[in-house]
Amino acid sequence: MRILVAGGTGKVGREVVAGLNALGLAPRLLLRPGRPPVPGTETARGDLFDAPSLAAACAGVDRLFLVTPLDPEETAAGLNAVAAARAAGVRRIVFLGIHNIEAGRHIPHFATKLPVLAALREAGPGWTVIEPNNFFQNDIDLFGAIGAGVYPQPLGALGLSRVDTRDIAAAAVRALLEDGFAGRCLPLVGPEVLNGAAVAARYQAALGRPVAYAGDDLTRWNEAVRPLLPGWLRHDLSLMYGYFQARGLAASDQDLAATRAVLGRPPRDLAGFIAGQQASGALAEALERPVAAQA
Ligand SMILES: NC(=O)c1ccc[n+]([C@@H]2O[C@H](COP(=O)([O-])OP(=O)(O)OC[C@H]3O[C@@H](n4cnc5c(N)ncnc54)[C@H](OP(=O)(O)O)[C@@H]3O)[C@@H](O)[C@H]2O)c1
Repeated sequence: MRILVAGGTGKVGREVVAGLNALGLAPRLLLRPGRPPVPGTETARGDLFDAPSLAAACAGVDRLFLVTPLDPEETAAGLNAVAAARAAGVRRIVFLGIHNIEAGRHIPHFATKLPVLAALREAGPGWTVIEPNNFFQNDIDLFGAIGAGVYPQPLGALGLSRVDTRDIAAAAVRALLEDGFAGRCLPLVGPEVLNGAAVAARYQAALGRPVAYAGDDLTRWNEAVRPLLPGWLRHDLSLMYGYFQARGLAASDQDLAATRAVLGRPPRDLAGFIAGQQASGALAEALERPVAAQA
């Protein structure tokens, strides 16, 4: 069985590759020109915005794991991939969506996925959508700020059921390899509802030094990330944080039960993620990075 992974160097995709490798499978990786080959994979040079390259990458492929990037043209990237997969006879597509996407359809990077979801439904029964909440691993880019005593992501007071990308990938691997997931949307959520202050408190407890939540001020957040993020992305993420602050993104009991069912165990928690980062040395190394280089 040949599996193509698009987005396989990213936060979720690299864990999907690791999960497939652990089962003795070497997936084909869609790699943009100039990116180094990844051990344990077969390279297909290509780009989601380059349709001919996708036709070549999909040739002989049975199953596709598809991550579409944060990009103003994300819809085109996703539609290109679905069209190429259909034309090549790919029988199963597992797509990375977003938890409760319909409720956030005013947010550009939520809305850009909706036409891709519609195209998948039209493509037939061989699709599954993984619908994750906000990733713990987003915090890795924030470790310098956290080490300096501030948790800067303006998540708000209502809270989100944040989730570990390793759990998202575990679900994706099952949906790629096993029967019973076709035509289903799988929410992937963490075990607790965390607001900005609670996330800061988890880091404070682990580091043994003060970590304060930076607060909900989106104007201040925009100014802080202005040197780091393009305007379209600041606008997009501001709408997302405003939505988190106004409505939260807490899982329902059914979402949590569905996550437990696909994992066969409870999902990982934030304290465990932080402990893992400490044990690997990644947190200590990141804490040394200059704060100015982080969002
Ligand atoms: N972050 C969250 O909390 C969260 C929550 C729910 C859903 N999501 C969704 O998750 C997706 C992002 O997943 P992620 O965080 O795992 O990805 P990521 O870490 O941002 O990495 C993006 C991946 O896509 C690849 N890529 C980017 N542009 C490409 C192109 N034009 N052609 C081919 N490959 C391209 C990148 O490859 P290179 O190595 O070439 O850069 C990389 O492998 C987004 O759709 C986002 O909306 C995110």
